[in-house]
Amino acid sequence: MLNLTFENALPQDSSIHWHGLRIENAMDGVPGMTQDPVAPGETFDYSFVAPDAGTYWYHPHINSVEQISRGLAGVLIVEEDEAPEVDQDITLVFDDWRMNQDASIQAPFDYAHDQSHAGRLGNFVTINGIGVPEYNVRAGERLRLRLVNAATARIFDLLYKGFEAAVVAFDGMPLDAPLQIERLIIAPGQRMDLIANVTAEPGDGALIGFEERGEAYVAVDFPVSGNSALAARGEIPALPPNRKPALDLASARQKRMDMSGGAMRGMGPAVWNGMRLNARELATDGQFWALSGVVGLAEEPFITAVIGETVRIPITNDTAFPHAMHLHGHHFQEVRSDGSLGQLRDTILIGADELREIAFVADNPGDWAFHCHMLSHASSGMMGWIRVG
Ligand code: C2O
Ligand code: CU
Repeated sequence: MLNLTFENALPQDSSIHWHGLRIENAMDGVPGMTQDPVAPGETFDYSFVAPDAGTYWYHPHINSVEQISRGLAGVLIVEEDEAPEVDQDITLVFDDWRMNQDASIQAPFDYAHDQSHAGRLGNFVTINGIGVPEYNVRAGERLRLRLVNAATARIFDLLYKGFEAAVVAFDGMPLDAPLQIERLIIAPGQRMDLIANVTAEPGDGALIGFEERGEAYVAVDFPVSGNSALAARGEIPALPPNRKPALDLASARQKRMDMSGGAMRGMGPAVWNGMRLNARELATDGQFWALSGVVGLAEEPFITAVIGETVRIPITNDTAFPHAMHLHGHHFQEVRSDGSLGQLRDTILIGADELREIAFVADNPGDWAFHCHMLSHASSGMMGWIRVG
């Protein structure tokens, strides 16, 4: 049981959402849905049992473009009872800042151009708040690397050198078997746990980098000095499994979600605050995106599920941009076009013009947000919700 008192010392309303934790609805931290906003000077007691081991994070869920862009985000690690043995356990929070010349954070946070395009991309990337941090390692060491993307818009296309590595968890949830991949895409809100053996020789360097528009950048340096005293540990192990609810795809409740809007595509008339408005009227009000014809929080849930039933949501992205859709209170699996199932995740990156289907067992009662984690998109229309029970 985790008991925390959140005190809002900001000059504006706030809250804390525990991203990826399957906790009680009343503790989910979404003002207007699960609690009232916490006013300046007020407190809110969060108390919950963290049910699954893994790498999670937390952040405000109101005016979140500004509050997260200004740095309000933290990592919450739930340890396994029996974690695989590693030499170092390193958390790496990727973030992206839009700064002025004097290193202050650039305001405002609601430029229509950001909202209608790829979100509030920054001009300075940090890992754990540092341009390119260094972690000293030894040749032959085994590391656990917990990657978190806390940026409000930037997708990182990661690569690494000097390691033999495998992904062991996505979004906190252990994979059935370690997955060896060269390119690691991590979208806003997503996490990824790697187990990495240092294969670089002493004097050499290992690194994690990222690629953008054909350019490669170093993100984290791992200078290698000396050899690990420990004998090689053999194959990269899987993490101990978390609970994995069994999907019943055949008798699932199913409803398709259409994402529309944004620059270069536009959208038809959509409902906002109970009114049906055309794209021009919506743009005047700073709204650019719709989920199945609804802009922002609808009066009615997108779907109402009976507790315990499987829900399938095929999502079509009819926009010119990728979107990182995040479901609160549950992890889902992708149902691929060949019928196979993806790994448990709480946030899925859906590319332009893609159709991707998610399925989950609706076993956590309450009203749960389901929105794009490009936060400028969420605040300009891509914010929905579902009801369980
Ligand atoms: Cu990480 Cu609804 O958020
Ligand atoms: Cu989006």
